[in-house]
Amino acid sequence: MKKILLIEALANSGSYVLDAAAALDARVFVATHEDVYEGYPTALRDKIHGTVFTDLTDPDRALADLTAFAGTTGIDAVAGCWEFFTPLVAHLAHRLGLPGNDPLRAHACRNKADMAQALLAGRVPAPRTVSVHTAEEAAHALGRAGIPFPVVVKPAEQGGSWGVSVVDSPERLDSAVRLARSWPVAAPHGLPMDQRVVVQEYVPGPEFSLDTVAWRDKYFHLPLVEKHTTGGTFRAETGHTCPAALTPAGLDALRTAAEAALRALGIRNGVAHTELKTAPGRGPVVIEVGARLPGDHLVDVVRRASGIDEARAYLQAVLDEEPDVPEPRRGACAIRFLTPPRAGTFQGVTILGRHDALVGRHITTPAGTAVGDAHDNSARIGHLVFTALTPAQVNADAARALAHTRVEVS
Ligand SMILES: Nc1ncnc2c1ncn2[C@@H]1O[C@H](COP(=O)(O)OP(=O)(O)OP(=O)(O)O)[C@@H](O)[C@H]1O
Ligand SMILES: [Mg+2]
Repeated sequence: MKKILLIEALANSGSYVLDAAAALDARVFVATHEDVYEGYPTALRDKIHGTVFTDLTDPDRALADLTAFAGTTGIDAVAGCWEFFTPLVAHLAHRLGLPGNDPLRAHACRNKADMAQALLAGRVPAPRTVSVHTAEEAAHALGRAGIPFPVVVKPAEQGGSWGVSVVDSPERLDSAVRLARSWPVAAPHGLPMDQRVVVQEYVPGPEFSLDTVAWRDKYFHLPLVEKHTTGGTFRAETGHTCPAALTPAGLDALRTAAEAALRALGIRNGVAHTELKTAPGRGPVVIEVGARLPGDHLVDVVRRASGIDEARAYLQAVLDEEPDVPEPRRGACAIRFLTPPRAGTFQGVTILGRHDALVGRHITTPAGTAVGDAHDNSARIGHLVFTALTPAQVNADAARALAHTRVEVS
């Protein structure tokens, strides 16, 4: 029986990875901090074979502790779920002589300022970017680089669209930069976050995500996903649809851009989640890459749409087995996130009428909880999942159900 060391399971894809490991008949040991493990839901704990406690905010200590653990336990593969620990996954795999990504470039997979440099060096189509500490620096750097407004301001290290805003004039840079610097540490480990701010040209056009399993330097692409976001100043995801309806040539161009990004970032074994936009007259532009499985229950969405289990394929890659990424079967799946219409006390969700395409209804916020009008993914109170035969049909079914859905707030 193979043994996998998973660095932190408390992430959206954690339970999918643990289920996939069980299906592959592999044992999973989870590396985390004792205090964080205390907060693990029972359902997650029950899927874990064993734990190793260390301080994941101290990379040298974690590397030493986990190397020792791997030696005594006989670990066959190292995996991760959480973006901020993907460099540790790469360094540990390298030290143990196991398959993994290039440790020298792994930091650029978690840090958007370093990622911009790596994508530029690799001639990958990406937004022109400057990295700064203050609004004043941002105004100068944008002028020097010739980047016009609107621009997108975001933390060098963060996720979930936290602190990301679209800025249309220099006067608004100050508040956007301050917002982007609101998170000196990331919960739940207290990992220090780079306080630099990334400011980049605004790329118009539809947005997609493409997951890719890398094994022995070969890339296995999962079906393309269409990403839906709010418009205006803040861009939080409102949902995803898989597969995205695109021409074969359009899909090919996105795959080529994503592969160039993966090469530039040293992603050669594991899985990557690449977000791209297709700008009119310009073609694909890589917004960001995570050297990890997607969040937002996309593992479930992709599997329901296509029959392909990307968590399984990821584990196969790190175990140095050929990943199962067959031709997708015909089908489509959509996820839509529910948010409160305004700040107040959440009461519940009512969906009027019958919706045959609605296959999952998950309300994650208890009634009576105070909900705010947050502009990022923390505003969600739950999500709905739909399946149909085609993307057009599932988008239409989801739109109809959402038109009959009320998120009640008092
Ligand atoms: N340069 C850009 N041009 C246009 N839109 C952008 C740009 N950068 C970011 N966005 C929009 O803002 C969203 C969030 O940005 P980004 O993905 O960089 O941050 P994040 O915190 O990692 O978000 P998430 O975890 O939600 O993907 C993107 O999905 C996209 O809609
Ligand atoms: Mg993103």
